[in-house]
Amino acid sequence: MEKSLEELQEELKGVLKKRRYNHTIGVRYTAQAMAMCFDEDIIKAGYAGMLHDCAKYLSDVEIMSECTKHHITCSKAEKLKPSLLHAKLGACYAREKYGMEDELVLSAIRWHTTGKPGMNTLEKIIFIADYIEPDRKMLPGMEEIRKAAFSDLDKAMYLILKNTLEYLGDMEERQRECIDVYSVDAYDFYKELWERRKCE
Ligand SMILES: [Fe+2]
Ligand SMILES: [Fe+2]
Repeated sequence: MEKSLEELQEELKGVLKKRRYNHTIGVRYTAQAMAMCFDEDIIKAGYAGMLHDCAKYLSDVEIMSECTKHHITCSKAEKLKPSLLHAKLGACYAREKYGMEDELVLSAIRWHTTGKPGMNTLEKIIFIADYIEPDRKMLPGMEEIRKAAFSDLDKAMYLILKNTLEYLGDMEERQRECIDVYSVDAYDFYKELWERRKCE
């Protein structure tokens, strides 16, 4: 049975580190505010925000072993950087440990780290809220991204993916191998969308 947001909040408070818990609350409220702005379901946005990092407290070894146990397949990037798997494992935990059955909520959790081409509104909201919540440090372009988060979701997606790939692209070869193919595909998709719209 589905738990209330308050019950989930209490449970996660006991599992996550303080910084991660504060971030979780930030994502929950940011996602709900964005849902109000874009006529998305406010309750689902709250659940997805609350649960998005529910598996982000495990070590690399633990997360790999949990993924094997739950038959979750790993990409090359995920094998090199197991923390990326907290999105897939998080969707699995959300269903199994926290009783979340709503496929939209589960999908928003699943895609919140890499993104993918053609995301739905709730997926975009959680991806973006994760990046812009008030406790996040000021990254380059953050002011523009925060404005876009409440005016143009596709523009915000493009700007975040561009920032993330540029940041990772500047790193050493080994780090670059940790870029997930879905992030690259998502970037190409939202870049093309953005450029096409600029020409219209
Ligand atoms: Fe996350
Ligand atoms: Fe997060």
